[in-house]
Amino acid sequence: MSAGLHKLEAMARSYALAAVRADREGRVQEAISNYRKAIEILTRIVRLYPDNPLAHVYRGIIQQYRKRVEQLEKLGVPAAPTEAEQLEEWIVTEKPSVRFSDIADLEHAKQAIKEAIIYPVRRPDLFPLGWPRGILLFGPPGCGKTMLAAAVANEVDGVFFSVDAASIMSKWLGEAEKKVKMLFEKARQAAKSGKPAIIFIDEIDALLGVHESEVGGEVRVRNQFLKEMDGLQDKSNKLHVYVIGATNKPWKLDEPFIRRFQKRIFIPPPDRRARVELFRLYTRSLKLAPDVDLEKLAEMTEGYSASDIKDIVVEAHLRTVRELFEQGGGEGEPRPITMQDFVEAIRARRPSITREMIEAYKRWYEQFRG
Ligand SMILES: Nc1ncnc2c1ncn2[C@@H]1O[C@H](COP(=O)(O)OP(=O)(O)OP(=O)(O)O)[C@@H](O)[C@H]1O
Ligand SMILES: [Mg+2]
Repeated sequence: MSAGLHKLEAMARSYALAAVRADREGRVQEAISNYRKAIEILTRIVRLYPDNPLAHVYRGIIQQYRKRVEQLEKLGVPAAPTEAEQLEEWIVTEKPSVRFSDIADLEHAKQAIKEAIIYPVRRPDLFPLGWPRGILLFGPPGCGKTMLAAAVANEVDGVFFSVDAASIMSKWLGEAEKKVKMLFEKARQAAKSGKPAIIFIDEIDALLGVHESEVGGEVRVRNQFLKEMDGLQDKSNKLHVYVIGATNKPWKLDEPFIRRFQKRIFIPPPDRRARVELFRLYTRSLKLAPDVDLEKLAEMTEGYSASDIKDIVVEAHLRTVRELFEQGGGEGEPRPITMQDFVEAIRARRPSITREMIEAYKRWYEQFRG
């Protein structure tokens, strides 16, 4: 086999792989341009080496890729968005509707977050040594980290930028660090108004996620991020830009990264008292039978997350709705929810937080208390 053919085949293959991957991940423009390059080279191969035993296979592939390009183009894909447009796309700036009062328990966390932002904004003179700009919320899944951070937008008078780390990493590969740079730039601009600018990065561990397909990318993002965080910490920097990160896998963060989040707040699973509060919160607008004992339900739900408890209430309520449809044809009102409904909903669901998980968070916190 000629060396030239060999080389062309290798090139075609690598464009084809890139095209298929981009296609699968929804990066349409990138897919189209790689399909086109693959088509071009395959066409050359077929023309230059018509007797190649694989020529008919290549012709089939060319057909197939042409069809795919046509389909992708028909999707009405707009011209590649400008950088500014891309940024708008993945930063959410409208305020979420959730408030601290919608969040059961977690008083220490609410207080700590408020203090960390409000005190320095109001009296920077009281913090001659500076103050933390990075706040890390960590703890088991489903216990209110995302909710808390979202509520900050309404509790603190400021400008809120919300992004999730996975989208920084996966959507526009290779440009991720540029995005990080622009995000901080935008926050600094906003903070010039005198109001604090709060950047919320959810699932922040994904910034450091090691994906085989993204080798190198996460290192650059991480370094850019560290640099931006250092910029905030700079003594001469009077702008109030804060970064709130949330993660349920704090051990995936490396030390330099953790160090930039001087304030670390554990968001624990709900204890008994908090679980009573959660049951009360979520049954507020539901009709309960007199035998329902929220204290008892709280006692039965050790290890259940706040999110589990919400699901249990939804399920218990659903039982009465289901009954209404199955036995009453869907007319009228469902019967009140009984203790039995709750008990069965609890039984049908395993607690999502184990003792080992809690131990792991505690061990991590011992090491990085802040
Ligand atoms: N303290 C709470 N009070 C009321 N509802 C809560 C609370 N914590 C969690 N929930 C409920 O559980 C859902 C999931 O909570 P949230 O998204 O904040 O969890 P998380 O801690 O960010 O979890 P993850 O680590 O999986 O991202 C919320 O949308 C809300 O319905
Ligand atoms: Mg979350």
